[in-house]
Amino acid sequence: MTTKYGLIGCGMMGVEHLRNIALLPGAEVAALCDPNPSQRGLGLQVAPNARAYKTIAEMMSVETLDAIVIASPNYTHVRQMKEIARHTAVPILCEKPLFTAPADEVEVERFQSEYGAPVWVAMEYRYMPPVAALIEQAASVTGGVKMLTLQEHRFPFLEKVDNWNRFNANSGGTFVEKCCHFFDLMRLIIDSEPVRVSASATQFVNHLDESYDGKVPDIWDGGYALFDFENGAKAMLELSMFADGTKWNEEIHAIGPLGKIACRMPGPQRFWPSELGASPHPQLSLYPRSPKRPETVEMVLDESLVAAGDHHGSTFYQHQKFLKMVREGGAPEVSISDGRKAVKMGLLAQEAAAHHTTLTF
Ligand SMILES: NC(=O)c1ccc[n+]([C@@H]2O[C@H](COP(=O)([O-])OP(=O)(O)OC[C@H]3O[C@@H](n4cnc5c(N)ncnc54)[C@H](O)[C@@H]3O)[C@@H](O)[C@H]2O)c1
Repeated sequence: MTTKYGLIGCGMMGVEHLRNIALLPGAEVAALCDPNPSQRGLGLQVAPNARAYKTIAEMMSVETLDAIVIASPNYTHVRQMKEIARHTAVPILCEKPLFTAPADEVEVERFQSEYGAPVWVAMEYRYMPPVAALIEQAASVTGGVKMLTLQEHRFPFLEKVDNWNRFNANSGGTFVEKCCHFFDLMRLIIDSEPVRVSASATQFVNHLDESYDGKVPDIWDGGYALFDFENGAKAMLELSMFADGTKWNEEIHAIGPLGKIACRMPGPQRFWPSELGASPHPQLSLYPRSPKRPETVEMVLDESLVAAGDHHGSTFYQHQKFLKMVREGGAPEVSISDGRKAVKMGLLAQEAAAHHTTLTF
């Protein structure tokens, strides 16, 4: 029997979800909704058999869906989950970040206890093949991670529909919007909870010459966040959004008493600079190095997964697992609680950097 999806938000990420759901056997997007007619048109180009709606209420009053994907702007996620709950209780795959303001945390906790179906938060960096391999091997290669560094050197925030990502009030701030992925990875790789954060960040260069309704964007484009974890491990994030990351966008290094494991991911292939010629084959590398395991593992991705989005197959692998849960039941691999904790780490890092201080959880 076909599993019927509904999609909320047909922007860049919504389209990536449509392309990846199309690769799943026995799954189809039956309905999509977006208040913006040209975005609905974009969605229908990729999923021509879907029915399109302006609002969630319209979609939910007509459709019977098996699962819903939320890919709308960050500040809408909590109220959209609550709106879905007024009509149905089917599994939800909600884009990160789960919420954007400290006050939303209580709402999210309440939602978690009341909603009658699982909510999976789209922390899909977990599913990038080199990151997934690092997560799996980190404890044995390192003998227990003591120090973890995550580095992202990348292009500036892309333009979004109605420029929602230009202001902290809409996105939650850079440490929430962009970095909740990395904070989720910290908790997962270290296998412990954060106890303290200090951070320093600012808006160095990006978007300072832009203006929307007379307002200059207030989003940071670089900084550091340093966390202490309950088990004594320490983790640091370095983010620069005005750096050339086309070859290697992200690097992760985990070190323990027995050795070190590292991986790195290329930037989205569509941003490969034309002056460098054709993009190399989307080959992802993992470099586990330790006295015990000096080997290098090379991974090659199916071209169809690379073509379906910017995230090196992670959207597809995430969908495979989400669909298994929709069909067979069970708990989400990335729970509301995981999504909530990653946002909380981001919000406290924002606050620590804004006030030049160290904060406890
Ligand atoms: N997992 C990842 O790695 C990843 C990558 C990029 C974006 N995202 C997340 O995906 C979400 C969407 O980001 P994007 O880059 O696609 O933004 P976008 O601006 O390209 O698309 C957002 C879409 O949502 C629509 N929208 C606005 N209000 C809506 C509403 N009330 N109901 C339904 N649709 C509405 C807009 O018209 C637009 O089409 C964000 O939460 C973002 O943080 C996640």
